[in-house]
Amino acid sequence: MIILSIETSCDETAISILDCENQNVNILAHTVHTQIEMHKEYGGVFPTVAKREHALNLVPVLIQSLSQAKLPTSQLEITKEVEEKIKKILERENGLAQTFLKFIKENEKPEIDLIAVTEGPGLEPALWVGICFAKALSLAWNIPLVPVNHMEGHIVSALLLHKNKSEATIQEIEFPSLALLISGGHTELVKVNKIGDYEIVGRTRDDAVGEAFDKVARLLGLPYPGGPEISRLAQSARENDSPISYQLKTKSYSLPRPMIHSDDLDFSFSGIKTAVRYMVEKIPEMTDEIKKCIAKEFEDAVIDVLISKTKKALDFVGSNTLIVGGGVIANKLLRERLEKEVPEAKIYIPDTYLTGDNATMIGISAFLQKKTPIEPQNREIRAQGSLSLDKIL
Ligand code: KG4
Ligand code: ZN
Repeated sequence: MIILSIETSCDETAISILDCENQNVNILAHTVHTQIEMHKEYGGVFPTVAKREHALNLVPVLIQSLSQAKLPTSQLEITKEVEEKIKKILERENGLAQTFLKFIKENEKPEIDLIAVTEGPGLEPALWVGICFAKALSLAWNIPLVPVNHMEGHIVSALLLHKNKSEATIQEIEFPSLALLISGGHTELVKVNKIGDYEIVGRTRDDAVGEAFDKVARLLGLPYPGGPEISRLAQSARENDSPISYQLKTKSYSLPRPMIHSDDLDFSFSGIKTAVRYMVEKIPEMTDEIKKCIAKEFEDAVIDVLISKTKKALDFVGSNTLIVGGGVIANKLLRERLEKEVPEAKIYIPDTYLTGDNATMIGISAFLQKKTPIEPQNREIRAQGSLSLDKIL
């Protein structure tokens, strides 16, 4: 089954083309066009800029993906009626209708069985562009369209085991399992009864982990996205100092571990961010050295909390299987510490290229949905900014 998948929930315009058969996946194309540079000046993702950039980039990203996948094609005639419908679907998407129709008329129809698109959660203006684009493609090429929950995408991204660069298998895992989902918008502990059946057992009460990394980076004068920057500084602090001098230094920059001992499985990261803000305000002259110490202490504090709650949640769910997904699992120290400090669990972590937002994970999710349908998908697809995993439709 050939699946074309589209992801535009935040600041990446991504399209993948997958050939899925049983447990085997051949990644024919995996294109991610990041808008990070456009958002840097705002210190975070600016929704209307994201929407405009998706509208500009979707057709070029599709062309690039199709030329990589080299699918067989056949001739296609677009009727006036279909053309009018497409114009209507894309009318609010910043001129996308013109480039879209030009592309459709100049190219043959590729052999694709299913189109998948992220319907939420995410930034609604950004989600809408991808959804309208997917609806227009589905109509023009007469191919069925399925909606995908972005967070389920992050879960299934961890199940792909690569044989080589393009070929992978979808690993069978034991259920129930626990998923720790950590991204710029989410921090959740999810009981996975099976793919498609989820119960959220813990979540952040305020900021998401990635958001905390981004905000603390901003306080330290580091660019967006903050996660990789903080991690780089923290790492250099660890490498350049002896552990003892390092411990002494970071002692004076110590940060809280919010809710680490609470009985529930919830998180709170805004307190650490506020503690960093007060700390920074009291420092008369900020130096690179101090930034490194704060970055290291912040990274340690966040990881201490994540690991402690994850262990508690594994007990609660009664599972030995841990899936970790979302942009923050790109963090090297977190990966290492999970392996070392949660030895009781079999841990599934995505390949680094699948940790951030991408469309391969959306295609895999659609493929697994088709294999184990939860509900018929014959409903109107709409952007759902705060779509939750436990009421997956
Ligand atoms: O999943 P993702 O790509 O987008 C969302 O759906 O939010 O996650 C992006 C988040 C950003 O907040 C970014 O700072 C964080 O992931 N991130 C990291 C690292 N790389 C990306 N956080 C900590 N350490 C990293 N190495
Ligand atoms: Zn994400």
